[in-house]
Amino acid sequence: MTKTLSEMAVEVLTTADGRAKTALSHAHANAWRAAREAGTPIPLGKAAPPLRPSRPEKPELLDPRDVPKRKPGSEKGRIALLHAVAHIELNAVDLHWDIIARFTDTRFPLGFYDDWVRAADEESKHFNLMCDCLEAQGSFYGALPAHAGMWRAAEDTAEDLLGRLAVVPMVLEARGLDVTPGMIDLFRRAGADDAVAALETIYAEEVGHVAYGSKWFHFLCGRHELDPKDVFHDLVRRYFHSTLKPPFNDEKRAEAGLPLDFYWPLAEE
Ligand SMILES: [Fe+2]
Ligand SMILES: [Fe+2]
Repeated sequence: MTKTLSEMAVEVLTTADGRAKTALSHAHANAWRAAREAGTPIPLGKAAPPLRPSRPEKPELLDPRDVPKRKPGSEKGRIALLHAVAHIELNAVDLHWDIIARFTDTRFPLGFYDDWVRAADEESKHFNLMCDCLEAQGSFYGALPAHAGMWRAAEDTAEDLLGRLAVVPMVLEARGLDVTPGMIDLFRRAGADDAVAALETIYAEEVGHVAYGSKWFHFLCGRHELDPKDVFHDLVRRYFHSTLKPPFNDEKRAEAGLPLDFYWPLAEE
């Protein structure tokens, strides 16, 4: 018997090794797409995603305050930056499969699953691109400590789909749009062409992930006749334990369907 989409998601979430997790993620995304194209979509099913996904023994996870500060101008600093991005990407793979498996009680058009399967597949590519860059530098994912607490937003919003959409794609992934151009410049100045190309791919594809978040957030608000801006402000204040930090990439945020009056009021508090 073929697996349901939720079972596929749980399989990714419970695989610890990063390369193995992302290979599975890619295979499942291909299976989903092929079935959709054939007009025989894989059933969503129902499964119990773990509260926390499986992760490799390394990297060691530290409180952000204890992760050594890096000088971005040095080679070591650039490796630390690639390592930090790899960690974010691996987390993102799990976040996208988690949203598929955790909220199966909410009915959505198939396009909801198309979007998050695609995003999960792209995050898998992003993780592997970062690993390839690290390995070309003689390092690897797991060689350095990484931030603990990346999964906090997922746990906080495990029972609140609107909260999940507000905080994960519309706040955290949108933040990626703000900071990635600076990273690309840094690697370009260092002549690291592989990292520049990888980060440009990530930057282009992350616009889509933020857009999926905004699209489905608005969809649900419409279904329940809620004002999206007010709900967004309430949910970010409830689940995101910090203010939003400018400068914002207003142009890319607009491209991703995030209006100025969604995020600016949360920065000025
Ligand atoms: Fe990504
Ligand atoms: Fe993403």
